Amino acid sequence: MNCISTPEGTRDLLFSATRALRKTERAVRETLEKRGYEEIITPVMEYYDVFLHANPTQSQEVMVKATDRNGRICVMRPDNTTPIARVAASRFPDEAFPAHIYYCQKVIRAVADDHGHRGEVLQVGAELMGTDGLDADLDILSAAFDALASVGAGFRVELGHAGIYKGLISSLGVSEETAEEIRTLIENKSFAALGDVLEPYRDREAYRALKAMPQLFGGVEVLEEAERLTENPEARAAFAYLKALLGALTKAGHGDAVMIDLGLVHELDYYTGVMFRGYAGGAGAAILRGGRYNALCGKFGRDLAAAGFAIDLEALTEAAPAAGYAEGSGRIRIALTKGRLEKKTLALLKNSGYDISELESPSRKLIFSLPGSDIEVVLAKAADVITYVEHGVCDMGVVGKDTIMEKGGSFYEMVDLGFGKCRFAVATKKGRDVYGGYKMPVIATKYPAVAKAFFEKKNIDVVTIKIEGSVELAPLLELADAIVDIVETGSTLRENGLEVVEEVAPISARVIVNLASAKLKKQQIQRVIGELERGLEE
Ligand code: PRP
Repeated sequence: MNCISTPEGTRDLLFSATRALRKTERAVRETLEKRGYEEIITPVMEYYDVFLHANPTQSQEVMVKATDRNGRICVMRPDNTTPIARVAASRFPDEAFPAHIYYCQKVIRAVADDHGHRGEVLQVGAELMGTDGLDADLDILSAAFDALASVGAGFRVELGHAGIYKGLISSLGVSEETAEEIRTLIENKSFAALGDVLEPYRDREAYRALKAMPQLFGGVEVLEEAERLTENPEARAAFAYLKALLGALTKAGHGDAVMIDLGLVHELDYYTGVMFRGYAGGAGAAILRGGRYNALCGKFGRDLAAAGFAIDLEALTEAAPAAGYAEGSGRIRIALTKGRLEKKTLALLKNSGYDISELESPSRKLIFSLPGSDIEVVLAKAADVITYVEHGVCDMGVVGKDTIMEKGGSFYEMVDLGFGKCRFAVATKKGRDVYGGYKMPVIATKYPAVAKAFFEKKNIDVVTIKIEGSVELAPLLELADAIVDIVETGSTLRENGLEVVEEVAPISARVIVNLASAKLKKQQIQRVIGELERGLEE
């Protein structure tokens, strides 16, 4: 029995780390209390039904479950806002509203092994319930700005609005599936792929604005640009609202720290108005998330307009040393994939005007500074490129769509470089009927997540077996009925008497960008992307 380790995603915090965390906590608490927010504490465990009822699309897997004596399923709270909405809707008297509430307590989520993600997160957050409109949003946003500023400078908060996408997509009149595809491409800032999906709707009014959404991030000029793109009333109301909010925030002294990202299209069945995220130099992911969620309290029996935010205190504490951060002051670190894509990626860098002589000469070196530029290159295995970019230790990466599909993660997939082209396919022995009979098909693959997602979409239940290489052997040795694998020239299949049964997805090399870097180093990153795109044309 192992009794010295802690569950995945949890950790002990000793002396100096605890001191630093508590110092941040005190600063944020004091700020919120000064602004009139009052603390409440909710149980660490709630009935599973509370969260299911609040958000039926929430993934079950992230919830850590237990049962009470009566066998009812309980979960460690995966978020703080739902329990607070439950309390406010069911226990507050009418005269308590508008209610300024704050909390400082942990959320617990089950995380995947070995990703380095924290599953136990100490959050300080504020909720303003029972009031709507510009003043209310200004109140909650000012609390967010003050809370971050109490710890250090060098943070940015970006604003978006749920009404933009909702208005545009409903006027486009597409199926739910296509709408979700479009939303995901906007969320991932996949400019080119979004253009392809939207192409059939070129003559629709919403086309231009939807297509531009992922690129509409930056300063106030973004709102003016957006206004020129659409007459959609819901979207235009959102632009006007954001403009007014931005004006009010600037007046309140927060102008330098505000950004706009009209491509914020996350959790749209939850947010109903303004949405915001905070970033700090040194933290790879958002350290603050929030927005207006006017529909949540109604699920607990009382219609209450509400807005709020949560800050990840540990991430904020760790980012604080980088507080002197300024755009353009640092290097851009790019992770490149070793092996399959390496030669073509290096050729692209050369074409784009970078001096890569050191990378070309044989050595065991892993980090390279490109002479005469602000770029540093690291070479890594494909999956590690994603890990480094996701954690923010690399700003950007070049990696195959195959690895992106298998590993997933939070980053922007900004450019399809168009080389390293191949495809995922289902293949088996010539003439074999994979889906025939009553037997559950056995699928061998190096890419179990891709295979599972593909068959799930087709509503076919399969058994997947992970194979590390030369997957083609598995059907030949009768371990599996078929494989899901990369097909490039098709010669491996041909030479072994196998054939493609079905296409799964096309693959090529992509440029991925860390979420915080995309915002905090926008100009540098756009310059590098521009140079790479020009290199492609040469
Ligand atoms: C990939 C893939 C196929 C082969 C397809 O394997 O898994 O086996 O390439 O290429 P083709 O269609 O041009 O024949 P890889 O070379 O990465 O080796 P591995 O399977 O041993 O990992």
